[in-house]
Amino acid sequence: MNTSKYPWWLSEVVYQIYPRSFQDSNGDGIGDLPGIISRLDYLKDLGVTMLWLSPCFLSPMADNGYDISDYRAIAPEFGSMEDMDRLIAEAGKRSIKIMLDLVVNHSSDEHIWFQRALKDPEGPWGDYYIFRKTDRPLANWRSIFGGNVWEKAGDYYYYHTFHRKQPDLNWDNEKLREEVISIVRWWLDKGVSGFRVDAITFLKKEDFSRNYPPDGADGLANVGAFGQDVEGIGGYLTELKREAFDYKPCLTVAEAFGVKDENVAHYVGEDGYFDIIFDFKAADLDYAGEWYHRTSWTVKDWEDKIMHDQLRTQNYGWCANFIENHDQPRAASKYLKEYADRPEAVKTLGAMYFFLRGVPFIYQGQELGMVNFKRDHIGQFDDLSSIDVFQRGLAEGRSAEEMTGVLNLRSRDHGRTPYPWDKSRYGGFSDHKPWLEMTEEYPAINLKDQIQDPDSIYSFYKELICFRQKGKWKDCLRYGSIERYTSDNAGDSRGAGMDQVISYVRKYGDVKLYCWFNFSNRPVTVRLPCDVAAENEAELAEISWHTQDKVDIAGDVLCLRPWQSVVLRAGI
Ligand code: GLC
Repeated sequence: MNTSKYPWWLSEVVYQIYPRSFQDSNGDGIGDLPGIISRLDYLKDLGVTMLWLSPCFLSPMADNGYDISDYRAIAPEFGSMEDMDRLIAEAGKRSIKIMLDLVVNHSSDEHIWFQRALKDPEGPWGDYYIFRKTDRPLANWRSIFGGNVWEKAGDYYYYHTFHRKQPDLNWDNEKLREEVISIVRWWLDKGVSGFRVDAITFLKKEDFSRNYPPDGADGLANVGAFGQDVEGIGGYLTELKREAFDYKPCLTVAEAFGVKDENVAHYVGEDGYFDIIFDFKAADLDYAGEWYHRTSWTVKDWEDKIMHDQLRTQNYGWCANFIENHDQPRAASKYLKEYADRPEAVKTLGAMYFFLRGVPFIYQGQELGMVNFKRDHIGQFDDLSSIDVFQRGLAEGRSAEEMTGVLNLRSRDHGRTPYPWDKSRYGGFSDHKPWLEMTEEYPAINLKDQIQDPDSIYSFYKELICFRQKGKWKDCLRYGSIERYTSDNAGDSRGAGMDQVISYVRKYGDVKLYCWFNFSNRPVTVRLPCDVAAENEAELAEISWHTQDKVDIAGDVLCLRPWQSVVLRAGI
């Protein structure tokens, strides 16, 4: 079939790097751009084709770089602009593209624009931000990192969705929008091939005069619950796409919390504001509103959330598939819980999301099956959001012990610990004490051990990427449609039920792939669909791919082993 009608980026496998924690090259305990350059051969060998770098721009680092004070400069701890140019060039030589993080809902309060604005909130720079002359906050909205969204500055208050050191930019101001467009074009001219667009659903603000029912002891209401995808946002985003992203070919992926189902069509697809968007309903299935309001979820709840996004998006475009990022705990710990250290379970987790419809994203260390750490007290945490949640939990009457437990499940630091290249002190990340403690000081999970082991999680990820990129069914995996699929339980009633299995079908032309992923430590027997089952074993549909040694099929019954993934091609 002719695949040229599909977007080029459906062939990408994106790997996210948190520069601070990937590889230190100058012994200051902080990862940097030369460190990334020194690991490009590793990334090439793994098979990824694009690197998304979390922000490495000039920043006071209140939120580790998501507070930018100069969009056209590199933070000195990460290197120089020459290093960035070299990274783009060296990655290019290996056919690896670079995606940058575009953080333009807010800047740092140390950005020169804000510094000037503070001096004259009524003047032209003041209009780059959202200032109001008032003696109290306009409403009771809680910012994402705690406290009211309105922060006092002299006779004025300014608005921040996130931390008070991250004042929101005023997208109603045409001059500000022109600045952003010119920043995007400037980086495209430098040779970057994509943008991950931060917190973009917050650009348009709700009516400031409106109070919401408080949802916490502080009397405030979380702005995340009502302040996203607000009507009118489309004007800004249409312009951003037309004037900035369409300037040169690039892949845009938006961090898009809170996009309403009926608005997905506006966000993705050929006419969408972005190419693809991250949806967070599956990633955040373990809590309700607050990290300390834990949910008890089932495999079916998880599957429902995944498929909801897959199916709503399929009508218009493609998904951005991920299980980890720098804001999330480690996926093995979150989804597999007490089985997080079972390699076969981690592999099935990897395969399940990797074969979904859309572009796969891998977060650094995920390919090793990294797990959450366990810390004893709040002083061991760096992430400002963790510290805020801890304090709010205490204010709600929870104990420090309970809240430390919550952070051990949910802190954003889990994904930010230094990359464990080997077992040496500081894991080969640095020869200096790292800025954040390693997951373990002498890592049990490390690349050096895994790279030598053909059965390791690393080797599995490499194979997974290769299967998607070069395997026999690559067109189906890249371009095929997706459907839910629920088989009937068959045979052995002592096994676990289908409610422990995530399954779906991918279809492209005359290729139809049935995919099953057993998320149970017990076998599950599945009655095969009639286009797969056959009386005669020789006529059985092709076994396309599986984890573990063997696929156990007898007649029309497939027995999935504990934590096994199986992909079967339907007979023709
Ligand atoms: C996004 C980023 C997160 C950051 C926040 C504010 O959610 O992923 O790390 O703290 O935006 O920029």
